[in-house]
Amino acid sequence: MLKDTNCGLLRKDDAGKVVTLSGWVHRRRDHGGLIFVDLRDRSGLVQVVFDPDTSKENFLLAEKLRSEFCVRIQGEVSVRPQGLENKEIATGEVEIKAQSLEILSQSQALPFALDTRVDVDENVRLKYRYLDLRRPELQKNFILRHNITKAVRDFLDGEGFLEIETPMLTKSTPEGARDYLVPSRINPGTFFALPQSPQLFKQLLMVSGFEKYFQIVKCFRDEDLRKDRQPEFTQIDLEMSFIDEKDIQNLMERMFSYVFDRVLGVKLTTPFPKMSYAEAMERFGSDKPDTRFGMELLDLSDIAADCGFKVFSDAVKNGGQVKGLCVKGCADYTRKQLDELTLLAQELGAKGLAYILYKDEVKSPIAKFFTEDEINKILTKMGAEKGDLLLFVADKKETVAAVLGRLRLDLGEALGLIPHEKMDFLWVVDWPLLEWDSEEKRFSAVHHPFTSPKEKDFDKDPANALAKAYDLVLNGVELGGGSIRIHDADLQSRLFKTLGISAKEAEEKFGFLLKAFKFGPPPHGGIAFGLDRMIWLLAGAESIRDVIAFPKTQKAVCVLTEAPSIVDLKQLRELHIASTVVKEKME
Ligand code: AMO
Ligand code: AMP
Repeated sequence: MLKDTNCGLLRKDDAGKVVTLSGWVHRRRDHGGLIFVDLRDRSGLVQVVFDPDTSKENFLLAEKLRSEFCVRIQGEVSVRPQGLENKEIATGEVEIKAQSLEILSQSQALPFALDTRVDVDENVRLKYRYLDLRRPELQKNFILRHNITKAVRDFLDGEGFLEIETPMLTKSTPEGARDYLVPSRINPGTFFALPQSPQLFKQLLMVSGFEKYFQIVKCFRDEDLRKDRQPEFTQIDLEMSFIDEKDIQNLMERMFSYVFDRVLGVKLTTPFPKMSYAEAMERFGSDKPDTRFGMELLDLSDIAADCGFKVFSDAVKNGGQVKGLCVKGCADYTRKQLDELTLLAQELGAKGLAYILYKDEVKSPIAKFFTEDEINKILTKMGAEKGDLLLFVADKKETVAAVLGRLRLDLGEALGLIPHEKMDFLWVVDWPLLEWDSEEKRFSAVHHPFTSPKEKDFDKDPANALAKAYDLVLNGVELGGGSIRIHDADLQSRLFKTLGISAKEAEEKFGFLLKAFKFGPPPHGGIAFGLDRMIWLLAGAESIRDVIAFPKTQKAVCVLTEAPSIVDLKQLRELHIASTVVKEKME
């Protein structure tokens, strides 16, 4: 190799060794007749000194060095003079006295500085992603990603799982997002869908008798992007036969314990706590509650039902709720701060945000609508003390949860209530099987239509049946979800009926799976985790994009390659496709 040592590993003990290093010029400084270069490779930085007394020729060449030139340097490791150590870097006690220098390649002036974190538009960073990825802060995310992926593979291998690949050119899967389609040239007018997950194939692998399958696999979903979503992302996907919910949960707890211990040196406490979906919504207004802090949603509907404030009493009469948050120590919030909270509440769908400032006395625009007794009941129920701010939303149950759930998170963050060093894993269980789609006027599956109901519930009252489904939440982020599947043809067709999926439609969409289930399918279930999300959380990165080498923007484009892009009309013709947009642009 063009190097025999990694820059970042050099220490005092190496003094006297002559080493050959290759890497990039991180920074160059000229000082009192000497040139100092911070040389960087993947392992870190080391300082190299060029002294004209050692070699005039090297010194003159070193004067030509600029940021990000790629160089090879030979020199002797020496201990830095006392007082000149650099505590900021791991190699700060030593430096390399350069004996030779070779410029392997030059670099143009950079579009943005790499040696300091400067504010540059993210689109510029993404356009030069390969440069941004040179930054050690980003590289460490990929090292973490590699280590976690490796640990997951090792664990599952040790448990007897087989990694089996499933097709990328396939048919629509039932995760419910929009598909990315790929036209078939050979079969005019037909399309593949890129998989939203390997869901149906992993179930087929259970029918095939593999018993324990896993895959670290790309999935594609054409959905509205948010902070924690990418159109193409990676799942740790697995499926097992002959198990129930507890088996999967227990296995996953062992997997996370193994991975956290091995990669992060963190010991997790198992079993992870479990909370029903209903309780999560009730207490936290979220199906992925951040349980690292309190400030839970408090139900005041019983007190509000007969009060004189019509907004509150009407909400309860119409089947809704009145709930509140007790924000400790914030009774001195200004008008402006309260207006901002109200605006956010309205953006999230609330009609308003009522408040009480509990100072020496209760100050609130709505106080006049309540008796003293009612106010006291509210204060008691909310555990309010002087100095607290109380916030209230009256609305449909879903709106109350969405608004207060989000305010709780925002206020928790703003007030520093969230202990960021904590790792709160939580299983959310007892999900409803179905939800009512008021636009389509029919039920849809909360997870997917192969999720098994708790049988007894389903026979009694399908609309309110619970599912054998579970999500794993870490610090308020949904890491993964899965379920026990239906393997009984009769139950499956009853569920399809409830979902308003006709036998014909089921046959068209999932016929191959239903047919497979006629040949002795084993009871089975599984789960999938979002790997990108997981690394994002564990790396403490700002954005999910920081843990994906070549991510897409919020607009679902790759700024680096400028994909997606317009293609030749010829290509379209070969694919038997006519694009109205292409035509317009061409004309
Ligand atoms: P689900 O749809 O819940 O389940 O997806 C599993 C996990 O994948 C992650 N995830 C995403 N990550 C980044 N960007 C996205 N757009 C994105 N969408 C999902 C989340 C999520 O928890 N086949 C089922 C699993 C099963 O039932 O076994 C499935 O895909 O972390
Ligand atoms: P109003 O009488 O409509 O001016 O409302 C009085 C206060 O109640 C204001 O602070 C509003 O923001 C608040 N408010 C209005 N509607 C609701 C609601 N549905 N839930 C909670 N507060 C509300």
